[in-house]
Amino acid sequence: MDWGMDNRVARMFPPATGRSVMLAVDHGYFMGPTRHLEDPKATIAPLLPYADAVAVTRGVLRTSIDPASRTAILLRVSGGATILKEDLSDEAITTSMRDALRLNVSAVALSVFVGSPHEHQSLTNLATLVNAGEDAGMPVMAITAVGKELEKRDARYLALACRVSAEIGARLVKTYYCEGFSKVVEGCPVPIVVAGGPKLDSEEAALELARNAIDEGAKGIDMGRNIWQSPRPVAMLKALRAIVHDGASVRDALALLPPEKAASKARAPSVAA
Ligand code: R5P
Repeated sequence: MDWGMDNRVARMFPPATGRSVMLAVDHGYFMGPTRHLEDPKATIAPLLPYADAVAVTRGVLRTSIDPASRTAILLRVSGGATILKEDLSDEAITTSMRDALRLNVSAVALSVFVGSPHEHQSLTNLATLVNAGEDAGMPVMAITAVGKELEKRDARYLALACRVSAEIGARLVKTYYCEGFSKVVEGCPVPIVVAGGPKLDSEEAALELARNAIDEGAKGIDMGRNIWQSPRPVAMLKALRAIVHDGASVRDALALLPPEKAASKARAPSVAA
């Protein structure tokens, strides 16, 4: 038994269900001040108590998260490209394992870009991070593709990317929901959580995505824009919790959302596009 590693995983996946609701707020590392995440502290604070884990960079962790919070931290440690470049795959490891340990995080996360110009680099970055993580008792999450790579959202591609990540040693994988998702899960020997991707047309669609992903074998969600770009983010997060932890149907989860008009009045106006 590797107590430190297991303890960190259990912090993110509460043993009562073995599943996790992760709040993704790490978009700024390549997208800058994304809509409704312009002020990370203001966006994150009301949501934090309802998330099992929060995905952030160290900059946002230090500046925008109360150190007294009980929510587990999933630290993004890759970066080096922005949306101004055609190719987002040119990433490096940006945060040392020593700093991750000092920040007392529960896992570190890095993107892999299978099939991209920097495939080899991102996979060897993963290997380097896993080697350091195994030494330190720190789980490593591989994130299969962001941004433009999302065009490759099909089961064959995602199954390949997830399996390769697990083979290199990732303890957890984050990927996207797709048609035939159960094939992705079957081929991946470590737990998978799903991202939400860009804001969907409705909250119902995002709840459906979560329900389907869990039904098809995901161990949780790591969702961002479909929560904090919703007009009622806290209620949306609670509805997602009901799906992931309580087995709620989409209909039951939808019933937890307050009327949209009241919710949008309460929300401060956004300054960015
Ligand atoms: C990219 O910035 C990150 O990997 C996000 O954490 C991931 O895409 C999940 O966020 P969303 O649900 O907004 O896609």
